[in-house]
Amino acid sequence: MNQMEKILDYFGETKDFIDAKLKQYMTNEEPLLKVLQESINYTLYSGGKRIRPLFCFIVGELFDVPREKLFSLACALEMIHTASLIMDDLPHMDDARIRRGKPANHLIYGQDVAALASIGLLTRAYEVVLNDAELPDDKKTQVVRKLAHVVGIDEMVGGQFVDLKFSGESMEYSTLEYIHAHKTASLFVASGTTAAIIGEATDDEIHALKTYAKNLGFAFQILDDLLDSTGKIEEVGKSLKNDKGGFIALYGIEKSKQLLQEYTNKAFEAIKIFGDKNDKLVALGQVLLKRES
Ligand code: IPE
Ligand code: IPE
Ligand code: MG
Ligand code: MG
Ligand code: MG
Repeated sequence: MNQMEKILDYFGETKDFIDAKLKQYMTNEEPLLKVLQESINYTLYSGGKRIRPLFCFIVGELFDVPREKLFSLACALEMIHTASLIMDDLPHMDDARIRRGKPANHLIYGQDVAALASIGLLTRAYEVVLNDAELPDDKKTQVVRKLAHVVGIDEMVGGQFVDLKFSGESMEYSTLEYIHAHKTASLFVASGTTAAIIGEATDDEIHALKTYAKNLGFAFQILDDLLDSTGKIEEVGKSLKNDKGGFIALYGIEKSKQLLQEYTNKAFEAIKIFGDKNDKLVALGQVLLKRES
């Protein structure tokens, strides 16, 4: 097995592991809530790439954090992300019909149940971290403060709002930058920095991870916009051509591809301080750069 195959193997194992842990945190035995739980499970276990938990575990390894100290955080990140996707697809948001290769949550369960599934996932995320016996209280406080901040008005909610209300072909670059940084890169940044906080990273190390995550998250959204405009629905697995603005509208395909590479390079530059311990972070960037869904 070459180095890349080994890392892909590690990514695959970690994904299975996250799925198993998510099931532990999300079970609900109340018969009256059966349909709500089904709606949550429908999107939570529908083949997401689990990039944010993966990033969290890779950062944990950098600082020799035992995995059990990251279970709740990794699952919380995926719950927040999944909640944001269910919400993002609703008719009054992106009005998308396909997600992860299947009909969007609200098309199966209705908008009312989908909205509750999204809020249920979001709040369970904070709960699992706060209930985690492996984490000391001071770490829990720092982690939950960051998670609440990243979901809220100053980050994801704000980014989604500006995307819905201000994106379009004539938007300024600063508006586009605001959207990408807030709706997408911020959760990447939170995934890395919360794991680094648990790992007692130094300020310089946290700063390096922030720069990596910000640029990688940015690159990730450029590619998402590229796939939205040039991909095939069977490969990308979600409704396409429904993002109103984005890099492609502003810069065209070629320049967007160039920027994708530039942001990824900036991400790689930032993690040089970790020396050869940065191999999985580099591999993550390379995998994301080549993704087709
Ligand atoms: C999609 O994220 C939403 C964006 C922030 C662009 P992912 O591409 O990580 O979605 P899944 O979880 O793999 O489906
Ligand atoms: C969504 O961006 C980012 C989120 C916070 C969910 P998009 O609207 O481009 O994501 P997709 O393309 O629907 O996955
Ligand atoms: Mg959207
Ligand atoms: Mg969308
Ligand atoms: Mg998109």
